[in-house]
Amino acid sequence: MSNNGCIVIEQSLGLRGEVTLDGAKNAVLVIMASSVLTSGITKLTNVPVSADVFQMKQLLEELGAQVTFDEKAKTLLIDTSILNNCIVGPELMRKMRASILVAGPLLARFGRAIVALPGGCLLGARPIDFHLRAFARMGVHIEVVGEYLHMNCESLQSQRFVLEYPSVGATENMLMAATLTAGTTHIINAAIEPEVLDLIAILRNMGARIEIAVPGTLIVEGVSSLRPVQHAIIADRLEAGTILLAAAVTGGSVSIPDCPNSVMDVFLEKLSEMGHEVVLHTPDKGVTLKATNAPRAVSFRTGPYPGFPTDLQAPMMVAQCLASGTSVIYETVFENRLVHTRELQKMGAQITHDGSLIATVKGVDCLYGASVIAPDIRASAALVIAGLAAQGQTTMTGIHHFRRGYTRLEDKLRALGANITIVE
Ligand code: EPZ
Repeated sequence: MSNNGCIVIEQSLGLRGEVTLDGAKNAVLVIMASSVLTSGITKLTNVPVSADVFQMKQLLEELGAQVTFDEKAKTLLIDTSILNNCIVGPELMRKMRASILVAGPLLARFGRAIVALPGGCLLGARPIDFHLRAFARMGVHIEVVGEYLHMNCESLQSQRFVLEYPSVGATENMLMAATLTAGTTHIINAAIEPEVLDLIAILRNMGARIEIAVPGTLIVEGVSSLRPVQHAIIADRLEAGTILLAAAVTGGSVSIPDCPNSVMDVFLEKLSEMGHEVVLHTPDKGVTLKATNAPRAVSFRTGPYPGFPTDLQAPMMVAQCLASGTSVIYETVFENRLVHTRELQKMGAQITHDGSLIATVKGVDCLYGASVIAPDIRASAALVIAGLAAQGQTTMTGIHHFRRGYTRLEDKLRALGANITIVE
C-alpha cells in the first residue's frame, strides 16, 4: 500500500443507485484478536478487505497463527493452535493502535504479553491507561522496559472494575481477558457500541459466559477454555453513514438494503432534521435517502454509543458546510479530532475552530476543489465527499488512511456516478 498515492475527485452531483455494505472494520479487528483465546481454526465471513485487516493478519502471524484470507470470498481462516510469541512490535503498534487488542487474549491464554508503547496519532495522545489499569487490577504485573510494556501474571484475578469512561478498546480488552478468568468479573460503565456487541456474540458462541446486566454493565463468569467458531461480521454502520452523506451533499438518492438502521438512530434522525427524505425499509434494516435541495444546518455532539458516532463527525461536518444556517459541532470523544477543518477551509468552507473541541460551521452555497491532505481514516472519507460536491477538481493525499478504513469505497461511489481516480 503506497502512502504517496492520491485521489483525484471531480464534482459529481446527483449520486444515485444501490450499495451493499462491507463488514465493520471496528468489529473484525477485535474479533480477529479474540481468536487468540482459542486453539483451533476460527472462520470469519463478511470480512472487509481493508488495510487494517491485513495489518491484524500480519500481527496474528507474528504471534504464530496461520491466517488465510480469501479476499474474493471475504473470508478469513485463523488457526491459533500453535502460538509461539507474545510480542507486539513498535511498527505494528504505531501503524494500528488496535494492535493493543491482542494483549487481553495473550494474558488470558499465556499469562504474558509484551507490547510496544503505542505511538501517538492524530486523534490525540490516545493513551492506553484504561487498559493497563484494568489489567493491573486483574493481577497483571506491568513494567516498562525500553519502548516496551512487559505484562505478566500468574493467573488473572476476577474483579469488579469501573471504567471512568466507556472506552471501546478497554472494554474489549478486559472482556476478552475476563472470559478465561476464574470467578465473576464485573465491568461497570462498559462501552456498548454495536462492534462490542458483535464481539460479545462471538465470545458467547465460543462458550464464554457474558451477561449484559444493564446497558453498560457486563458480568463475565470465567470458563476454563473457549472453542473456535465461525462468525459473520456485522455490516459497517460507518460505511453506511458515509455513503448516505455522499448522496446527501451531492443532491442524490441512494438505497442501502443492508443498512443496520437500528444502530444508527441518532445519525439518521439528524439527516431527517436537515430536510433529507430518509425512508427506513424496516426499523432494523435497509434505508433509502433522497437528498433535499435545501438542506438545513443541524448541530450535534459526538459521544459514546448510542450517541452520535465520532467516526461520522468529519463526514457530517461536510454536510453542514453546504447547508443553510449555522451548525455547532462538539467533538467529545477524541481531542483534536477536528484537524480536517483546515482542509475543508481550503475548499471554501466557513468554519471557526479555536483549537477547542467545538467547531462552528456557517453554511456556504458551494465548496471549491483544492489540494487537501487526509489526516486520519474518517477525515479521508469526509474530504472525498467534499470533493464530490465541490466545483472543480480536488486532489487528496494520505490515501493510506482511506484504504485503512474502507473496502474500495471509491468503486462503490463510482457505481453511483462519482468521478474518482486513484493515482497510486
Ligand atoms: C475505537 O477506538 C474505534 N477503533 C475508533 O474508531 C472509535 O472512534 C472509538 O472506538 C470510539 O467509538 C477501533 O475499534 C479499532 P476509546 P478506541 O478507547 O478503542 C480515551 C476509526 O476511525 N482513552 O473508546 O481507541 C481515548 O483517547 C477509529 O475507525 C484513554 O484516555 O476508542 C479517547 O479520547 C478511530 N485511555 C476516548 O478514551 C485509554 O486507555 C475514547 O477512546 C483508552 C482510551
